[in-house]
Amino acid sequence: MIINAYAKINLTLDITGVRPDGFHSLRSVMVPVTLCDKVDISSSDSFAFNCNIKQLETSDNLCVRAANAFFAKTGLPNAVSVTLEKRVPFPAGLGGGSSDAAAVLKGLNAFFKNPLSTQTLFEIAATLGSDVPFCLLGTPALCEGRGELLTPISGLNTLILVIAIGKGRLSTPEVYKRYDAANLPVRDDTSAFIQAVSENDNSAIISSLGNAFEPVTDILCPETKHLRTLMLSLGALSSHLSGSGPSVYGVFKNASDANSAAKALQDEGFSAYVCQTLK
Ligand code: C5P
Repeated sequence: MIINAYAKINLTLDITGVRPDGFHSLRSVMVPVTLCDKVDISSSDSFAFNCNIKQLETSDNLCVRAANAFFAKTGLPNAVSVTLEKRVPFPAGLGGGSSDAAAVLKGLNAFFKNPLSTQTLFEIAATLGSDVPFCLLGTPALCEGRGELLTPISGLNTLILVIAIGKGRLSTPEVYKRYDAANLPVRDDTSAFIQAVSENDNSAIISSLGNAFEPVTDILCPETKHLRTLMLSLGALSSHLSGSGPSVYGVFKNASDANSAAKALQDEGFSAYVCQTLK
């Protein structure tokens, strides 16, 4: 059984506070995109996890943690082989690992004929990471709390994207720490975005996109700022960091503009992928 594990981007990302558990409360509109990893689940004598990228083939990979959590909850014999074909860049702020974990949960539940309820799957997902519940949902959503409180968003038109990433790396905990230290005013791109979607106002949707981390990541990883500027100069209608970076997305008017921009970014040495949002 092969499951697509779709990457996500954050169309908005507002940080609204710090919680007693040290995590941040946020309001973010996340959407799945067509760029994806592939998770293959098959029967086996004992548990096995294989990945085309050997550095990811470890026991603390989120795929293995998701499988362990599934078997602990169901009590079923841990006799499957999970093979991950990694295609989404990492670590990138694209939720690749979270999506792999969600695909393993969803896939194992289907493979064993649904021993767990949807609610239990979401509870397990939340223990694996802040973005895993969203990836399990698999549709555009307003994500609040730590990221696990989900309100699906319907009526969003498909956006044509280029997602690009350079060689720079960003650590998520470090980005949050620097964000706290920077003491920035709280943004509210999310309310404007939701209003724009309800009014089906495409230009307001484009102008409401944003990411609260950008003032911090522009300094920690100037390449991300450069990429956003490049995207705009290559015709993007808007360009922002996804998650805590370092990937950057640009929204393009059509596939032809997106393909030309991706080619130009690749010529400059960046990895660039043309994809689109999923509904
Ligand atoms: O939940 P996840 O494993 O994705 O979180 C990675 C790190 O990102 C956390 O250890 C924390 O430092 C930070 N984080 C946060 N608030 C969130 C989500 C993540 O502070 N809502």
